[in-house]
Amino acid sequence: MKIVSVVGARPQFVKLAPIAKAADAAGVEHVIVHTGQHYDPMLSDVFFSDLGIAAPDVHLGVGSGSHGVQTGAMLAALDGVFDAQQPDWVLVYGDTNSTVAAALSAVKMHLPVAHLEAGLRSFNRRMPEEHNRVLTDHAADLLLAPTEVSVGHLAAEGLAERTVLVGDVMTDVLFEVRDQVGASPSRLRTELGLEEGGYYVATIHRAENTDDPARLAQVVDGLAGLDRPVVLLAHPRVVAKAAGAGIELTQGSLVSHAPLAYPDLISAALSSAGVVTDSGGLQKEAFLLRVPCTTVRTETEWVETVELGWNVLAQTAEEIAAGVSRPRPADTDTAPYGEGKAAVRVVETLIERRIR
Ligand code: UD1
Repeated sequence: MKIVSVVGARPQFVKLAPIAKAADAAGVEHVIVHTGQHYDPMLSDVFFSDLGIAAPDVHLGVGSGSHGVQTGAMLAALDGVFDAQQPDWVLVYGDTNSTVAAALSAVKMHLPVAHLEAGLRSFNRRMPEEHNRVLTDHAADLLLAPTEVSVGHLAAEGLAERTVLVGDVMTDVLFEVRDQVGASPSRLRTELGLEEGGYYVATIHRAENTDDPARLAQVVDGLAGLDRPVVLLAHPRVVAKAAGAGIELTQGSLVSHAPLAYPDLISAALSSAGVVTDSGGLQKEAFLLRVPCTTVRTETEWVETVELGWNVLAQTAEEIAAGVSRPRPADTDTAPYGEGKAAVRVVETLIERRIR
């Protein structure tokens, strides 16, 4: 059996790592296609080297552009790749422009498509990620759902027959990396002279927080006014938008820092007093590490983290301040994202449900 995985953005490289390992262990032929959506070494190459993923077999080098230009360039390039590879499954990951491009290209070539992390919904129709997920779920032949809640969303959209609950593959990687970094001091903490538990880790990159200068200024003010140092691991999008709007990313409590490699991020989050983010993955990683999270969005796809008290939603500076200073939630043994064995189930499911 042959699987072609299509990835392009940082969170997809994290999800790819356990899948690549499980595919190798099962003796499945696995071809990795990198669209080139993320091209900065700290958003791309470092994930392949740190997580032990083989270099991509095909690199499309698409790069940045408007949604249409970026997605269209991927579509055009993927036709030839799929034609040459003729896989049994095209496996697409998450909710980026790379996901929807690969799903659309494959379905038009009558190649079976499986969507990993299917059924997540924010119900916010203005988010590009929400368009990408909904379109991909409805195009795909097999929906690999991470949680009971995502299974419910797919059923409500009439997609129950194509759905399999496999668990969350990011949990597989997170547990492995957490055990590797162990109790060794965080590199970020040493570099910046931060005290254990004495700082917050922040990431902000979503269009709704970065593209409008007034909104970005509000978020930056909120972070700069917090009661402890806040290290902003600044994605290129936020750096570019802040520079364009004349907003300083290092001010007050806020210190701007380059993005971190995955093990360094996990270790920095583990030693922090809390995480402030608009990332999807980091909300869940904080929960799995039992680090309180404040999410700078109006909704979340990972509703379990909020229900269990480890995550709160915040929009204004006051809400962000209240979010980080709330009491630590009660510990819980609940494991809504599984036990860290999802990737093996994904590969088994692809073998069992093989169509071609
Ligand atoms: C993308 C995903 C988002 C995911 C995020 C993880 C979409 C629509 N969004 O957002 O779901 O959470 O990746 O990081 O697919 N840029 C660089 N260097 C890079 C990559 C991007 O400088 O290596 C800059 C470019 O100016 C680009 C901007 O960042 O225009 C945004 O990049 P893009 O790939 O469009 O979306 P992300 O914000 O990274």
